[in-house]
Amino acid sequence: MTHKDKIILDKLPEHIAVIMDGNGRWAKKKGNSRIFGHTNGVTAVRETVEAAAELGVKFLTLYAFSTENWNRPKMEVDALMSLLVSSLHDETPTLLKNNISLAAIGDISRLTDKVAGRLTAAIEKTSHNTGLKLILALNYSGRWEILDAVNRIKADIAAGKLNTGITAELFSYYLNTKNMPDPELLIRTSGEYRISNFLLWQIAYTELYFTPTLWPDFRKEDFYKAIVDFQKRERRFGKTSEQLNQYEQTVNK
Ligand code: IPE
Ligand code: IPE
Ligand code: MG
Repeated sequence: MTHKDKIILDKLPEHIAVIMDGNGRWAKKKGNSRIFGHTNGVTAVRETVEAAAELGVKFLTLYAFSTENWNRPKMEVDALMSLLVSSLHDETPTLLKNNISLAAIGDISRLTDKVAGRLTAAIEKTSHNTGLKLILALNYSGRWEILDAVNRIKADIAAGKLNTGITAELFSYYLNTKNMPDPELLIRTSGEYRISNFLLWQIAYTELYFTPTLWPDFRKEDFYKAIVDFQKRERRFGKTSEQLNQYEQTVNK
């Protein structure tokens, strides 16, 4: 029995976010360059996207490049960007075939014209698809996103477009993730137990799943395993376990 058979399909998380980490260590273990690790990470992306689409997950957000990743050696940054360009080109037909639409979060304005062009083209080409929404976090960081929202709120107030109090709902509307539910599950590979500036506002009540598997080794089965683990948890949102069980008894009556 694979983990897939253990998944309760009507309790599937709507939104799963992934910190794809460990490419460099994977390559080093094989005596290869870090870039070799990134190239091999593409297979894991393909598997994860396919698994999410097949199951019927609605949103999948992949952390592909953080604001802080610009601080890596230029050669590595360039390799990551050209990998992105070629993957967007190579994978768009698969996205179309599987009814997947592409979106991006992050400060896209700092990407080169070539990367931004390919990204926009892929987003436009897939915009009519109604299945899984695949969101790439590119030049993204949670603090940047929050500050960007604050600055846009400030501008709207100054322009007289906004004169109400700022609620959590209104604030969410100014984030890159507007119109998306918060992720119920966040997966991080490579055995690191940290968030690294990902979706800081949105993960307030997200279940965190950490696995030692290095990203290039991540396969469908690993994705299913994370979902099975998630489904065993009790999400209390500040309440007591007894309150939740009482509620379940009422709705199941
Ligand atoms: C994740 O793998 C890919 C990116 C951050 C772009 P890493 O490149 O961080 O791999 P490690 O963590 O050094 O092993
Ligand atoms: C997080 O991984 C960013 C991405 C996966 C794109 P990092 O490898 O950059 O995170 P740190 O530096 O280990 O925290
Ligand atoms: Mg890393």
